Amino acid sequence: MRRNIYFYYGRMRYRPLGRTGIEVSEIGYGAWGIGGILWRGGSDDSATAALHRAFELGLSFIDTALVYGEGHSEQLVGAIAPKGVAIATKVPPKNRLWPARPGFGIEEVFPYDYIMSCTEESLRNLNRDFVDLQQLHVWNPEWINDDGLRQAFADLKKSGKARHVGVSLNNHDPDSALELMRSGFIDTVQVIYNIFDQSPESKMLPLAAELGVGVLARVPLDEGALTGTITEQTTFEEGDFRARYFRGDRKKQVVEHVDALNRDLNGLVTDGAASLPQIALRYCLSNPAVSTVIPGMRSIRNVEANCAASDAGALDAKVLAMLKRHAWDRDFYGG
Ligand SMILES: NC(=O)c1ccc[n+]([C@@H]2O[C@H](COP(=O)([O-])OP(=O)(O)OC[C@H]3O[C@@H](n4cnc5c(N)ncnc54)[C@H](OP(=O)(O)O)[C@@H]3O)[C@@H](O)[C@H]2O)c1
Repeated sequence: MRRNIYFYYGRMRYRPLGRTGIEVSEIGYGAWGIGGILWRGGSDDSATAALHRAFELGLSFIDTALVYGEGHSEQLVGAIAPKGVAIATKVPPKNRLWPARPGFGIEEVFPYDYIMSCTEESLRNLNRDFVDLQQLHVWNPEWINDDGLRQAFADLKKSGKARHVGVSLNNHDPDSALELMRSGFIDTVQVIYNIFDQSPESKMLPLAAELGVGVLARVPLDEGALTGTITEQTTFEEGDFRARYFRGDRKKQVVEHVDALNRDLNGLVTDGAASLPQIALRYCLSNPAVSTVIPGMRSIRNVEANCAASDAGALDAKVLAMLKRHAWDRDFYGG
């Protein structure tokens, strides 16, 4: 018997993606993990089931990238996503350097022809004529006045191959795109925003709200730290990027921070979507400048839990004030 989606999982809510005219589900699908390669331990069967379940629950926005599984994430998404689901993808840096480094000119990283050919390749993987959003996978503010980039974005839109364009910002560097946002030639920004990294709140998110720039809140669960499932004994398969992210004494640090967070949260959130990952997603959605939050998910279980966070809505002011104390300034990607 078909389950009653509203009763069991709550109702998905939608928000405008900035001034693009697109409405997107508050919970979007982070599709890095389903590409495999850097995320081990998943399977295409599980990813396919998770994607189907997400669409059943009203999810209508997916964030993928050409580089995720070297096209595999895009291929899975393209094979399954119904027509009305908005797809965002990304052009990888040509020099394959994440994050973007100062001093590398745009001609080495995002030359015009390369942006165009990567977009064509993504469209083939996705089996679509257009993407709803094409993003640069890294951003360096030194590139702001580059004519080739502006031309590439303009031509992608004119040809209809990308309806909208944006950038995905370097890790923990939300203010690197303030001038770009003011320039008016991007529609969206993708930024790390979570209970530990609250830095977008000071400048970037208010500016996005003022200008109508869409915001994709990425890594809302701090690569799994904010799910509460990382312990000092957690191990990752060789080749899984998290083995590096959580290396050395970092798992111990995560446990200490998550324990402190759980102690402060104890009894404060009492409605139906009150698990730590759900609170982490609701934290992002409590900021009205956020258009969609894009947790990585590879299982039906996680899709159902995460989609339920939308209906539960914003956290109240008392909880948000308490969470301010849990900001944690560090960079586990680098170093
Ligand atoms: N430079 C960039 O542009 C960039 C960089 C990183 C990420 N992103 C985008 O942002 C998305 C999200 O980031 P992310 O996937 O790296 O990290 P994330 O969303 O912070 O965390 C994903 C992890 O949380 C787990 N998880 C998800 N929901 C859960 C739940 N309800 N309960 C317990 N565990 C749960 C996932 O498990 P399972 O995988 O087993 O479901 C996975 O291990 C990516 O998929 C990608 O689209 C972009």
